[in-house]
Amino acid sequence: MNAVQPLHAVASPALPDGQTVLSVRHWDDRLFSFRVSRPAGFRFRSGEFVMIGLPGENGKPLLRAYSIASPFWDEELEFYSIKVPDGPLTSRLQKIAVGDRVIVRTKPTGTLVLDALLPGRTLWMVSTGTGVAPFASLMREPETYEKFENVILAQTCRRKSELDYGADLHRRLLDDPLVGEEAASKFRRYATTTREPSDRMGRITDLIESGRLCADLGLPPFDPAEDRVMICGSMALNLDMKRLLEARGFSEGANSRPGEYVVERAFVD
Ligand code: A2P
Repeated sequence: MNAVQPLHAVASPALPDGQTVLSVRHWDDRLFSFRVSRPAGFRFRSGEFVMIGLPGENGKPLLRAYSIASPFWDEELEFYSIKVPDGPLTSRLQKIAVGDRVIVRTKPTGTLVLDALLPGRTLWMVSTGTGVAPFASLMREPETYEKFENVILAQTCRRKSELDYGADLHRRLLDDPLVGEEAASKFRRYATTTREPSDRMGRITDLIESGRLCADLGLPPFDPAEDRVMICGSMALNLDMKRLLEARGFSEGANSRPGEYVVERAFVD
């Protein structure tokens, strides 16, 4: 008999859209990532999000929006989450272990997709904290490197340990059989902290305004003719980035009408 059971054969009838937890990694006391089996036939575009969760009390599932942190072609789905001590979902989700089941609803959606951007030269992916998750998907998407000459992942966090997941994504990217070689010449990560000393400090918005970000990377100042921007952070960061870009002549894109930048709120907080 084949030792590997097809996933649908082990699905619990009590949890029809439950997926098996395949690995869990805790990055610090506030952040963790995990991988689950991919639902059969599930399709999504890199950068989209889905509702995931656990069975709640009274049998009703407790679901929250999570960006998929793995590319569309991956056999598994990765998610990156904050741990909120009294959060209804994350207080429980942070305790999952290999073999447990997590509900994954298979209706992907979202605006942080390549289709929502006009062609350009440099793709900026701007995030805070868990907002890096959709970019974890897009940075491993071959189309990202077909469409852009430069791909920059900018992440600002309060503390250094919050940047560890992004650093690990970067390492894994360079080993990626599909995009590793192209990423080595096109992709760069620009990580900053605001409340703990590190090699690079300051809010990403301030570093854009001052011209420091572009200068550090040897790129020209933000220009709607050449730059495309994806934003995923807190409400405050998203609004400041929108203001900053619109003052420079950028217009917001959507699935139905591609533009020069797109924005989505990092969900679970
Ligand atoms: P700061 O420490 O200066 O507030 P949070 O945990 O509050 O969501 O913040 C995550 C990171 O995003 C922090 O480094 C924080 O910097 C930064 N941040 C918060 N609000 C903004 C904003 N409006 N513009 C740029 N960066 C921001």
